[in-house]
Amino acid sequence: MPPPTPIEPKAVEAVTADVTTAEATPAGQPAPTGFRFRCIACGDLTDSAVQNFRCSRCGDLLEITNPNWSHAQGSSATAAADLKAIWKQRRASLSPVDLSGVWRFRELLPTLENLHHVITLREGNTPLYELPQCSRMVGLPHLFAKHQGMNPTGSFKDTGMTVAASFARQAGFRWVACASTGNTSASMAAYAARGGLRSLVLVPEGKISWSKLSQALDYGAVTCQLRTDFDGCLRLLQELVLRAPVYQLNSINPFRLEGQKTLAFELLEQLDWQPPDHIIVPGGNLGNSSAIGKALLEMHDLGLISRLPKLSIIQAEGANALVRTLREAGGKRLITVQAETAATAIRIGNPASWKKAIRVLQATGGACEQVSEVEIARAKAEIGAEGIGCEPASAVTLAGLKKFLKQGFVKPGESVVLVLTGHLLKDPGFTMEFHRGELFPSTPESDSAVSELQPLRRPPIVLDATLDAVIRTLEEQEKSNLHA
Ligand code: F0G
Repeated sequence: MPPPTPIEPKAVEAVTADVTTAEATPAGQPAPTGFRFRCIACGDLTDSAVQNFRCSRCGDLLEITNPNWSHAQGSSATAAADLKAIWKQRRASLSPVDLSGVWRFRELLPTLENLHHVITLREGNTPLYELPQCSRMVGLPHLFAKHQGMNPTGSFKDTGMTVAASFARQAGFRWVACASTGNTSASMAAYAARGGLRSLVLVPEGKISWSKLSQALDYGAVTCQLRTDFDGCLRLLQELVLRAPVYQLNSINPFRLEGQKTLAFELLEQLDWQPPDHIIVPGGNLGNSSAIGKALLEMHDLGLISRLPKLSIIQAEGANALVRTLREAGGKRLITVQAETAATAIRIGNPASWKKAIRVLQATGGACEQVSEVEIARAKAEIGAEGIGCEPASAVTLAGLKKFLKQGFVKPGESVVLVLTGHLLKDPGFTMEFHRGELFPSTPESDSAVSELQPLRRPPIVLDATLDAVIRTLEEQEKSNLHA
């Protein structure tokens, strides 16, 4: 087969109309308040970006800036109050963009030439739950979970995807593509289908949950299982987008991160703009932590919040590139790892957004920790027992919180929000193996942490179909509860 003909990478134009004038501005006219791309390393500012979303001068990642998002442009307490009022008002609207928990905050997002380009599944609008049992267990009276698993495709990815997919459609692309540990691909496939785009998924063979894979198939993506890991898939995608007219929807794409900022806007609105002391997120490719941190800094700068919560990142011990980068290289150069963890969503060893993540850790005074496989499984079962549930990668947040409490980084009177990034049903295999005792088979030699998981297990009970058998089971459960 001949090699593919190189195709000139297509530029993504950055200058668009301000949202308040979006519908009124004639197409093609640059608006006075457009956003720009800025390189995170050399600071170069441009109006367009090539398809790998890297700085054409130094090759580092780009972020999106807009002078309207900073205090320097003369924003005031009134402006902050006005924003809060507009966002609240839109909750009563029936327009699709207002029903989206992302586009409702569009003053702090890059704006499309026309809001009719928005591809939305009514993403965002996710609940903030109290965690009463976990609160008691760890001794923190103010412990909450912001459950991003309640998004349309079951993960936080939808909040970024609505923005980036809409820009892909506006730029005239026919194909979108991503490398994924499963959630990005599920989300991308759904938004592409809604927007009339074709989608190409690159996932590591055998290393993602069937639930996530099945979503991509059902939403009509061309799904390739590559014989490599996530990092290998992402490397290949970066080359592909420079050779073919395919728009990449990984979190290297700064439009994704802009959409993911809205988690923080919505959270603060739910807390009546009273910042919590801590926000804790899982870290994989490190896009989400970067996005939340960017939002916190912008909100602080604009006077929407009076102080910054500390934003902290938790990784699995087997996928701890950021932890090692901070501990062993002082955050100066990335230490990559060969990632291995049952929390497959964060099985990533070469995180693309590591510099952005370090910047927000430093700016907010957050910390970075790692947790073991057993700690993840325990925390996941504890969140499940609240009647909420999440996927393994999300549970690192509770496991990390316990470590922070022991270290004194989180103090007993402080308020904490855990970001649960994915729905329980994203990885039923993990949950079944845990409850059946197959995840960490208990052997005489296995350590005490594993045997301490036993009381959390609720394996299914196989019985004869008789009333007696069921009543006996009820009585046994009641007795063991009394003794617990
Ligand atoms: N939690 C879940 C459930 C995820 O799916 C991911 C990432 C993360 C946390 C980590 O977020 O990469 O922004 O630091 N999943 C990506 C994917 C990589 O392809 O679905 P991050």
